[in-house]
Amino acid sequence: MTGPARSILITGASSGIGRALAIEFARPDVRLVLIGRDTTRLSEAAAACRAGGAHVETGIIDVRDRAAMHDFIRAADARAPLDLVIANAGISTGLPAGALAEDPEAVRGIVAINLLGAFNTVEPIIEPMGARGRGAIALTGSIAAIRGLPYSPSYCATKAAVHLYAESLRGALARKGVAVSLIVPGFVHTPLNENLVSAKPLAMTDERAARIIRRGLDRRKAVIAFPRLLYWGARLTTVLPVRVVDFFMTRQHVDVPVTRERMSS
Ligand SMILES: NC(=O)c1ccc[n+]([C@@H]2O[C@H](COP(=O)([O-])OP(=O)(O)OC[C@H]3O[C@@H](n4cnc5c(N)ncnc54)[C@H](OP(=O)(O)O)[C@@H]3O)[C@@H](O)[C@H]2O)c1
Repeated sequence: MTGPARSILITGASSGIGRALAIEFARPDVRLVLIGRDTTRLSEAAAACRAGGAHVETGIIDVRDRAAMHDFIRAADARAPLDLVIANAGISTGLPAGALAEDPEAVRGIVAINLLGAFNTVEPIIEPMGARGRGAIALTGSIAAIRGLPYSPSYCATKAAVHLYAESLRGALARKGVAVSLIVPGFVHTPLNENLVSAKPLAMTDERAARIIRRGLDRRKAVIAFPRLLYWGARLTTVLPVRVVDFFMTRQHVDVPVTRERMSS
């Protein structure tokens, strides 16, 4: 008997984009290794993927727990080599309307999850994939990383760091046959931004985002950015005069909820 043809690990698979992506990949010849923190949500996501025919394994792990992430990912890879690892787990935080400074606790929390959590996901798989001379790694960034937004400084900073990390890794791993993709979403309707008060131009469902991401990953695209119009609009702001862009951005009414995450023990 042969095992599944493709093994895919996804963090943040219990909700939103990660969950929709897991379901999008769920086929009888696919093994999915799904990581999240919330047991109920992760079980529901796993059940939806099993209904699609996939072989599913789950791990209730906080991405901040470097040792647990390392051991779980190495063990999953040893059982059957992972073909694709997607560092997707993330949170948002920012400035509620009228606030001047971000909550320092929330800032440390978002760095630990969005940035260190991405390192904790990617680092354990680099050497095994490099040794095999095949595989793919993907990281979820954001259009918010392209130009700093006055209402979510630390979120933009973590995602900008993820962008440069992915870009750097891509160059480093290409000669080993390992592809690195950077996923750059615009607004996607998920729990992450349901309490965000802001214009959400060209917002889309998580199912639609997952289809776009899956197609990009199947083609081993270096950058999977969508919607294209918003992406190129954001890129344009980086070549316009800073004062002009700041003028318009600071006049938007935006209210970003504070996420207070506990630091890992
Ligand atoms: N939605 C958007 O508009 C948008 C736009 C650009 C980029 N993104 C990025 O897309 C990614 C997914 O976001 P989403 O919109 O799908 O949000 P979401 O629905 O809130 O899902 C976030 C996922 O990350 C997991 N997670 C959070 N902290 C974790 C931790 N410490 N350890 C393990 N898992 C953790 C959550 O697990 P639990 O359920 O267990 O808490 C959940 O599965 C994030 O990196 C986000 O920054 C989203």
